[in-house]
This record gives sequence, structure tokens and C-alpha cells, in this order.
Amino acid sequence: RNMLLFRVLVLLILHMNAHCMSLNWTSRDRPNLVMLMSDAFDGRLTFSPGNKVVQLPYINYMRGMGAVFLNLYTNSPICCPSRAAMWSGQFIHLTQAWNNYKCLEPNATTWMDRLGKSGYHTHSMGKLDYTSGHHSVSNRVEAWTRDVPFLLRQEGRPVTDLVGDASTKRVMTKDWNVTDAAVQWIQHTAVSLAQPFALYVGLNLPHPYRTDSLGPTAGGSTFRTSPYWLNKVSYDQVSVPKWLQVEDMHPVDYYSTFTKNCSGHFTKEEIRNIRAFYYAMCAETDSMLGEVMAALRDTGLLNRTVVLFTSDHGDLAMEHRQFYKMSMFEGSSHVPLLIMGPGVKSGFEISLPASLVDIYPTVLDLAGVPQPGGLSGHSLIPMISGVSVQSAEPHPGWVLSEYHGCNANASTYMLRIAEWKYITYADGLTIPPQLFNLSKDESELKNVASHFPDVCQDLDKLLRTIVDYPSVSQAVHSYNKQQFLEWKQSLGDSYSQVIANLRWHIDWQKDAKSYERDIEEWLLGSPQIHSHKPLSPSSVFRIFFPIFRAW
Ligand SMILES: *[C@@H]1O[C@H](CO)[C@@H](O)[C@H](O)[C@H]1NC(C)=O
Ligand SMILES: *[C@@H]1O[C@H](CO)[C@@H](O)[C@H](O)[C@H]1NC(C)=O
Ligand SMILES: *[C@@H]1O[C@H](CO)[C@@H](O)[C@H](O)[C@H]1NC(C)=O
Ligand SMILES: *[C@@H]1O[C@H](CO)[C@@H](O)[C@H](O)[C@H]1NC(C)=O
Ligand SMILES: *[C@@H]1O[C@H](CO)[C@@H](O)[C@H](O)[C@H]1NC(C)=O
Ligand SMILES: *[C@@H]1O[C@H](CO)[C@@H](O)[C@H](O)[C@H]1NC(C)=O
Ligand SMILES: *[C@@H]1O[C@H](CO)[C@@H](O)[C@H](O)[C@H]1NC(C)=O
Repeated sequence: RNMLLFRVLVLLILHMNAHCMSLNWTSRDRPNLVMLMSDAFDGRLTFSPGNKVVQLPYINYMRGMGAVFLNLYTNSPICCPSRAAMWSGQFIHLTQAWNNYKCLEPNATTWMDRLGKSGYHTHSMGKLDYTSGHHSVSNRVEAWTRDVPFLLRQEGRPVTDLVGDASTKRVMTKDWNVTDAAVQWIQHTAVSLAQPFALYVGLNLPHPYRTDSLGPTAGGSTFRTSPYWLNKVSYDQVSVPKWLQVEDMHPVDYYSTFTKNCSGHFTKEEIRNIRAFYYAMCAETDSMLGEVMAALRDTGLLNRTVVLFTSDHGDLAMEHRQFYKMSMFEGSSHVPLLIMGPGVKSGFEISLPASLVDIYPTVLDLAGVPQPGGLSGHSLIPMISGVSVQSAEPHPGWVLSEYHGCNANASTYMLRIAEWKYITYADGLTIPPQLFNLSKDESELKNVASHFPDVCQDLDKLLRTIVDYPSVSQAVHSYNKQQFLEWKQSLGDSYSQVIANLRWHIDWQKDAKSYERDIEEWLLGSPQIHSHKPLSPSSVFRIFFPIFRAW
């Protein structure tokens, strides 16, 4: 073991020395930055073979001109916590961004703030969604009550909706307005700036639309597009994903399936349609990216601008009997990251796992801004440019994602390293873990945790050096109860009526009294506390080693 440690250190030092120079921008030639962040874009569509199913010309252009990450993950597969990680550069258990309602304080220092302080002209438009206090009441109550042992359908069943005709390009008008505003800002403001600029454009697509027939508080279960975008999809390439038998599903996955109203029967045609419509929505997103790139090109700014494209999470689009996100399966947790521009090598594919917290240090490096302490992420600059920034710690090669929100009835932790995806829950004792060999089983249908107990043990140890996850789960249990109680008390006599009319109203009203009783019992129950053993560093090290070989 000691010999191995020595070899790793030598490799590391060699690796760092080989590229020991910085990007060394002078203040005049610091690049502009434009970041487009979509909502619910499955990262696997940005490279082969996933990219065969739909035409995404601008994403393909970025891949050819710049770097594409083949294993980029969200740090939490839901809108607000994911964005909190991206904007803060910190894991969500550090910022306590537990759900769509509880994220960052408005005064949190984002990388955009730091660019602004270092002389960049900064501008953000469209969807931001990283601060606390937003999203629907249903959404937060569903998150707080996920420990209550009842099973209620919360979402509408996923459906498709074809609008317009073969010439209808602008389906998601709100996003197109944001795109137009971004183009105008580039044409009128960016061109005449004396200093470098950073522009953030947040889109809603390809997030499914609200299902209006289910009322004003319904969730988004409508996949809507026009024939124009549907024509960009190669229908014969649209797969119908294999599902496990219901009785073989992991209990937490089944809870997701049921609460997302997907436990009923779906025909093959229905599933293929939902997937095709989702891909068509991705094509519309790609064309918004195209408008922004065209504006940069036409104003002559493109070759002085680093462009990034990413997303907060993906969409399962009926994989694993689910739509939406809130899951560690690839469709939900694997997001795109493409980077092109000055200093970025072209045609580069990076397979080392990385995640959204890495964007913060990467952007600061690109802009030549010093890194603050306490970041969870690592700069991706060494991977995309072949140079490394002095004193920067290399990326460890693992990714942490965690989830504490609605539609999953246990806090979930995912560690992605080498070929493995290890998923563990709650206190690490009461719910069985899942382990997938992604090199062999890319559709994640074969949980091999019981076949590889040593691997699970090693990965669990590594995970616990990153996060004391049983304690985090405990903190979330307490937060959920306390927040729910405060909310309940704030409602006074109207509590029964309000809770009966949330998104789950159809199921709730079948037996309102017993569901209220389940909640009372949950509120009275005492929290479970488990002790856990400290870890030895040498066992952690066994896992690290293969990664360094991969470098
Ligand atoms: C950085 O740039 C300065 C001025 O252009 C130059 O003197 C210095 O050698 C450069 N450093 C590196 C490491 O390239
Ligand atoms: C943000 O404000 C809160 C109080 O509202 C304060 O406790 C916290 O320190 C502030 N954080 C920053 C980064 O300024
Ligand atoms: C679940 O889906 C069915 C079928 O579309 C629908 O009638 C029902 O309202 C949905 N339930 C909820 C809670 O949205
Ligand atoms: C988009 O902009 C158009 C024209 O300015 C406006 O009429 C429309 O209401 C906007 N749509 C949305 C959804 O913001
Ligand atoms: C989660 O929900 C599933 C489905 O109802 C149930 O089997 C399982 O016991 C629940 N797990 C926890 C930890 O509550
Ligand atoms: C960018 O392109 C313009 C012409 O389109 C050219 O004049 C300029 O030198 C280029 N700048 C860089 C940094 O390549
Ligand atoms: C994971 O799958 C790959 C591809 O089939 C295989 O080469 C590798 O040995 C597997 N890993 C383990 C530990 O079985």
C-alpha cells in the first residue's frame, strides 16, 4: 500500500509539472464568457451514440470546435439544488440546498459575482432558480412528507401534445423571448464594451410543460412540440427502454414511479412518442443555442468568447418507468457540458467523471480570477486546454451527487468513479444500496451490489470521506419535520382543506382521514440515530489508484 501511495504521488507530481504554466491572460485579452444553461437536457445526447437520435447542429458544432465531457453529472438531480451547486461551487449538503424550496441565500457569492468584482461586465437573463423560497407549495410539502409511509400520485401521467405545423419553430415562446433578448444584448451592449463580459442565459426547455387539464397547480408532464421539431428526430432510432418487473424494482425507485403517476400501463407507441417529443424539445433548445452563437459570430465576438452549454439535470423520458428527474439513473443525473473558445482544444472528448460544482473554479480560471477557499469543485482547465493552473489540485476523478427532495422517499447519494455508479440511501443500513457497472450495463438494469460486496464497501468508505451521509440524512429528516410543522401551524384551521387540495388531491381525497393520521404519527415519531465507524485512509486509497492510471 505504501509503495502504491508513493507511485501515485510521483505520478501526480509528474502530471502537474508537465503542464506547469497558467493560461496567463493579460487584463486586456481575458476572454468573454457566455453560458447557456437549459433545464432537463439529457447529457448523453451530446455525443455518440446518443446523438444519432436527433439533429442538434449547434451542439455538434461546439463538440467539433471545443471540448465535450462524456461523464458530466449534476450534484443534485432537481432544478434549484442543482443550480445552487453550479452557482456556489459547493456540494448541496454544504449549502443545505435540500429541495426546490430550500437553496442558496440571495446574498450567496456566485462565480458571476466574482467575475463582476474582477472587472467583468456581467449580465444574467432567463431562468436563474438557485435561491430559496420558490416553486409550488405542493412541491415543498411533497419533499417534507417523503418519510410519511403513504403512497400518493403527485404528478400527471406523462402525455404528448403536438402543436402548430411543419413551419412552427417557436413553440416555447418564453425561452425564445429570452433568446431574442440575449441576441439583442450581444448586438447592442456586448459589442461596445471596453471590458470583457460574462453572459448567462437560462432556458426552461426541454423541461416538460404543465399539464393544464390537471389544474393550475399541476406539475409538468406534457411533452409538447411541433411537426417542425419532430422532423429533426430519427424516429427509427428512438428506443423503447427495457424495464424491470415491478416486483424487482428498488423500493425507492418504485416510490418515484408511483408518485410520478407512471405505475400504470403504457403502450410501446406511447413510450416511443414521449421520447420522440422529448428529443424534439431538445432540438428546439439547440436552435436557441444556435441563435446566440450566430449573434457572437456576426458581431465578431465569437473568437474572443468562451461558450459553455450545460443543464441542471436530464429527463428519464420513460426510462426505468419514469419521466422527470429526481433519480440517480443516467437519464436524470447525466448532463451535458460543452466548452469552446480561446484556450480550449478542439475536438476533445473528456471521459473523466466531473460535475456541475467544477464549473465555478473552471470559470474563474478562464477569467484569471483567484479561487476562493472552500469550493467542492475542481478546475476543468487542465483537461480542456492541456495547461494547468499553478497550485491547482487535480480533479479527483470521482463525482458526488445527492438528492433530498420530493418523489424519492430517502436521501440518496451517488458516487461515480471509473466504471462504477454506487447509490446508497438514508443511514446506509436500512435501505439496500445499488451498484452498476456502467461499462457493461449502460441501461442500469442489473444491480450488482450483492455480487461485489468489496467494491460496495470500498466505495462506501470513499463516500464517507467526502460526506458523513448518515448525519446529512438525519439533518434532512429534522429539517423536513420542523418545516412541515411550521407550515401546518401557519395554516391553523384551514390545514385539512389545504393539504387535501395539493397536487395529490385525487388520491388524498379517497381517504383523507387516514392520510392525516399517517402524518400525525410521523410527526410524533422519534428520529432514528445510527452510529458509524470512522474510516481508514488506506482503504480509500485502493479505490483512487485505478483513476490515476486512467490519467
Ligand atoms: C505571462 O505573461 C507575462 C507577460 O506577458 C510573461 O512575462 C510571463 O513569462 C508569462 N508567464 C508564463 C508562465 O507564460
Ligand atoms: C447572508 O445573509 C445572512 C443573513 O441574512 C448572513 O447570516 C450570511 O452571513 C450572509 N452571507 C453572505 C455570504 O454574505
Ligand atoms: C394520474 O394520471 C391519470 C391519468 O392521466 C390522471 O387522471 C390523474 O389525474 C393523475 N393523477 C394526478 C395526481 O395527477
Ligand atoms: C414573448 O414576447 C412577445 C413579443 O414581445 C410577447 O407578445 C409575448 O407575450 C412574450 N411571451 C412570453 C411567454 O413571455
Ligand atoms: C419507499 O416507498 C416504497 C414504496 O411504497 C416502500 O416499499 C419503501 O419501504 C419506502 N421506503 C422508505 C425508506 O420509506
Ligand atoms: C477574431 O476574428 C477577427 C475577424 O473575424 C480577426 O480580425 C481577429 O484577429 C480574431 N481574433 C483572434 C483573437 O483570433
Ligand atoms: C465492468 O464491465 C467491463 C465491461 O464489460 C468489464 O471489462 C469489467 O471487468 C467490469 N468490472 C468488473 C469489476 O466486473
